[in-house]
Amino acid sequence: MKRILVIGAKGMLGRDLMGVLLSFFPHDEIFGWDIEEIDIQKEEDTVFEIEKLRPNLVIHIAAYTDVDGCESNKEKAFAVNAEGTRHVALGASGCQAKMIYLSTDYVFDGKKKEPYLENDPPQPISVYGHSKWKGEQYVQESMRDFLIIRTQWLYGRYGKNFVTSILRQASEKKALSIVNDQIGSPTYTVDLAKAISTLIQFDARGIFHVANSDLCTWYTFGQAILKLSGMNKVRVIPISSKELARPAPRPLYSVLNCQKLKKETGWTMRPWSEALKEHFST
Ligand SMILES: NC(=O)c1ccc[n+]([C@@H]2O[C@H](COP(=O)([O-])OP(=O)(O)OC[C@H]3O[C@@H](n4cnc5c(N)ncnc54)[C@H](OP(=O)(O)O)[C@@H]3O)[C@@H](O)[C@H]2O)c1
Repeated sequence: MKRILVIGAKGMLGRDLMGVLLSFFPHDEIFGWDIEEIDIQKEEDTVFEIEKLRPNLVIHIAAYTDVDGCESNKEKAFAVNAEGTRHVALGASGCQAKMIYLSTDYVFDGKKKEPYLENDPPQPISVYGHSKWKGEQYVQESMRDFLIIRTQWLYGRYGKNFVTSILRQASEKKALSIVNDQIGSPTYTVDLAKAISTLIQFDARGIFHVANSDLCTWYTFGQAILKLSGMNKVRVIPISSKELARPAPRPLYSVLNCQKLKKETGWTMRPWSEALKEHFST
């Protein structure tokens, strides 16, 4: 029987991941911690608590995920996403556990014209991207047995995300302006949780890219959300990232090549539009 510890268990991905892990590994012990149980910014506490639990596997998905907030709060971004990850890695290696770290497409600059491979060199352009990349580096430096999973454009049943934001805005306005020059793949947290569980079953190591297949812009994604929710009367206006002028720059093209996942586990991620349909039907 394995002891699996999830850190960040009450976040958007965490809540789905806890349920999926229970169904994939019914005979293992699964522990879910979040900020109430442990503040990963505190090195001693984090290392002590992980070593006390003695898990075989630590899945670290806790993060400061406010991408724009990170620009004005650089200290917190690095304290949680980089140093926090180093503390988790210290705890995990202290009890010879394997570590899984969730990272992001925002480690790339978005200048590539084809899907990013796992070994493409990261070149983050935002504070969030830099802090997550530093977290990746700490994991690689301090762990012998690790898995880094880069994903993107997450949405799911829990927490705030692009889907909830579009639905909220559509209930308040007649027209929405949505960015049409950033390309990526919206990824359903349930599908990501299943892919993570599959990678665990295969004892995969190294870096993997995991996202739903097919690509789109936020504008196309927004249109699909409005259609599926029956709010087609709301007008959608395509705008550029420059017009939106968010504090954090985003990569214009951050599609992830997920062939390695398929090759090593046989697991294929379905198209984002299919996953979105399921999200609206459940
Ligand atoms: N969302 C995306 O589109 C996306 C894309 C690519 C990669 N990722 C990565 O995927 C992972 C999961 O993302 P998510 O969207 O599910 O994030 P989320 O909903 O923000 O969940 C993260 C969880 O971590 C907790 N947390 C924050 N600071 C902490 C600390 N110091 N100690 C312990 N726990 C702390 C948060 O608590 P509070 O809510 O109380 O702060 C929250 O429950 C993250 O590693 C993220 O970087 C996300």
